[in-house]
Amino acid sequence: MLKYYPEKTEVPFIHQLLLGGVAPRPIALVSTISKTGVVNLSPFSFFNTFSANPPIIAFSPARRGRDATLKDTYLNLIETKQCVINAVTYSMVEQVSLASAEYAPEVDEFSKSGLTKVESEFVIPPGVLESPFRLECELIQMINFGEGGAAGNLAICEVKLIYVDEDVIENGKIIPDKIDLVARMSGDFYCRASGDSIFEVVKPVGKKCIGYDQLPGYIKESKILSANDLAKLANVEKLPQFNKIANEVLNEKLPLELKDILILNRFQRQGNYKKMFEKLKVFYPNETLNSYLDSAASLALKNNDIDYAWRILLFRGGL
Ligand SMILES: Cc1cc2nc3c(=O)[nH]c(=O)nc-3n(C[C@H](O)[C@H](O)[C@H](O)COP(=O)(O)O)c2cc1C
Repeated sequence: MLKYYPEKTEVPFIHQLLLGGVAPRPIALVSTISKTGVVNLSPFSFFNTFSANPPIIAFSPARRGRDATLKDTYLNLIETKQCVINAVTYSMVEQVSLASAEYAPEVDEFSKSGLTKVESEFVIPPGVLESPFRLECELIQMINFGEGGAAGNLAICEVKLIYVDEDVIENGKIIPDKIDLVARMSGDFYCRASGDSIFEVVKPVGKKCIGYDQLPGYIKESKILSANDLAKLANVEKLPQFNKIANEVLNEKLPLELKDILILNRFQRQGNYKKMFEKLKVFYPNETLNSYLDSAASLALKNNDIDYAWRILLFRGGL
């Protein structure tokens, strides 16, 4: 493991490490206005939400790394104390990048980026029409972390109004595939939070889980089940009972032959763990059979079919 002590390391390197390791970061496309009425639009990925009651977000318009000067967004916030945070989607990411170029303070980045202004209700800065999620905000506190290049300034804002495009929300939940947000990573890398990048992790919150330590030894020692598979199995309230599936263990057993292996491999390629299990039940237990049972359980877990995975694994334990 490499180790870096910030006080002994160059600031740009520390900056790059933080950008790479604290990632992916959501991007706030922030619109502000100066007291003379010049609108500004810039992206900030040192950004997140910190409270729902009251709704609070914060982002960091840092001092410029090159000369430690303050950015227009910071100066506007200090002057007028208002902003609109616009979420960044895949379809607008190149325009957002254009808005991040360093333009003179009198330049309105809406015209440079080609993004469209939409009037706000509570604040003076306009929102971005193309963004499906917008927050009208008031600055409640600015915390300065230093005077040197790349020193952060945390703009803590209270959300006064939330806009959500009806096309991206269903039953009160924003659907990741529909909103298609992007996030910032190291260097010039971004990631798209939709499609194959999206998966579900069933929350253990509010229920008592048996935990990793209570898993039977033969399951923990499996060469097929991954650490994530084991954690999914541990996310049940009590160890499922073997009695329920004992009758699945048949008395008459057959030897596992090549023709059976070919069929099992086909089911495995298809991800059909139920057919795998039905077929596997009739064979004499041995290491190969156990591997196939573990593979079937792993496929069941991939499908979030936790009950079925346990059924397979308890069957294996009872052999
Ligand atoms: C995706 C993205 C994320 C960024 N995040 C930050 C950030 O968190 N803090 C920051 O100071 N600059 C960030 N920048 C750079 C600013 O957008 C850039 O310095 C911009 O010119 C500031 O504009 P302003 O001076 O008009 O406020 C980011 C740029 C991009 C493209």
